[in-house]
Amino acid sequence: SIASIKARWVLDSRGNPTVETEVLTIARGYGKAIVPSGASTGTHEALELRDGGKAFHGKGVLKAVENVNKIIAPELLGMDSRRQEDIDGKMLQMDGTPNKSRLGANAILSVSLAVAHAAADTYSLPLFQYLGGMNAYTMPVPLMNIINGGKHAGNELKIQEFLIAPVGAKTFSEALRIGSEVYHSLKAYLKDKYGPQAINIGDEGGFSPPMKNTREALDALINAIRNAGYEPGKDVALAIDAAASEFYDEKRSLYIIDGQELSREKMIELYEKLVEEYPIVSIEDPLHEEDFEGFSIITRTLKTQVIGDDIFVTNVERLRRGIENKSANALLLKVNQIGTLTEALEAARLAISNGYSVVVSHRSGETEDTTISHIAVALNTGQIKTGAPARGERTAKYNELLRIEEYLGTRAKYPGLGAFKHYKR
Ligand code: PGA
Ligand code: ZN
Repeated sequence: SIASIKARWVLDSRGNPTVETEVLTIARGYGKAIVPSGASTGTHEALELRDGGKAFHGKGVLKAVENVNKIIAPELLGMDSRRQEDIDGKMLQMDGTPNKSRLGANAILSVSLAVAHAAADTYSLPLFQYLGGMNAYTMPVPLMNIINGGKHAGNELKIQEFLIAPVGAKTFSEALRIGSEVYHSLKAYLKDKYGPQAINIGDEGGFSPPMKNTREALDALINAIRNAGYEPGKDVALAIDAAASEFYDEKRSLYIIDGQELSREKMIELYEKLVEEYPIVSIEDPLHEEDFEGFSIITRTLKTQVIGDDIFVTNVERLRRGIENKSANALLLKVNQIGTLTEALEAARLAISNGYSVVVSHRSGETEDTTISHIAVALNTGQIKTGAPARGERTAKYNELLRIEEYLGTRAKYPGLGAFKHYKR
């Protein structure tokens, strides 16, 4: 049972404070978790509690830390750390709001994840095996964001993320090696073509070149893949996260992208052309976060994976609406969008049981925490999105997956293109 719970503030990768919590059980199980933070956040995400005021430009988390130490901890002491659902349920009950605005989703999630780590440690099991049992052995295909745009970069690219997926690899470690090689080929290509400023990087470790146009970025990826000695589409596929809410003009119902103002229909046409021209296997948030209808049109017409991030926000209610409307065919799973491990797993199970793929994801503001690597393997999702193969907060996740693959040995499976079951050639 839980002997102590202690929270503190630490810094995330953008230099903003976030919540870290440590949990100790009587049986000496130890768990620690740090919560991440988004920039292009969905409107319907659970509330990240910030202090306001002067310190940290208003982004302090002292209230959230105090909520863990003074309100949550006393209630959870003595509870069995293995009873994740009871513990998360207790916190939900204590909070009492639909979006966790009283205690803060950051406070609640840090405890929720630290409890899971402590319980796994009590059994001396790696977290992925504690959560997924002996059936957890699918290594995820890494979706690596190597050109950053939108809110994650100081350039004019409207599409937020240009990603590569090494689908031709035989193992996760080979996929990571290929990702690293393409990343460095891209760096050389950008420096050569656009000058030294083009290799500055964005929030997720990808390059932030001074480009204006979607095709320019996709062409750079194709060139980098070829220059590294790989075949685009066969060895390394492409993906994008448009994060389209960020360039949607609500008043005029127009998408402002590539020097054009596009209606929903024209925007969909643009995606259709891009999918024709490039080996794109996955598109995330192609339209704004309230357009369930548009999402279902796109899911019907594009032969790719269509991921819902801001539209679903890892929320079972919104995902149910998506399933009813056939909006998207994949769920982006971000634990801090919903605020407890139990609810995140519930969303994943709902998605999987309805034929949706699941992509476990980091946030643009990250830390050394590696919980999501374990969740991806525990659920056999076959896909993870956790940034470029560079910068400590991103490589922490990929490096943990290297360790997990080594631990699994011959039982580890890398699905390659098979992970994208909604992609039709
Ligand atoms: P965020 O971006 O963490 O800034 O929300 C990630 C994403 O949109 O997938
Ligand atoms: Zn997204």
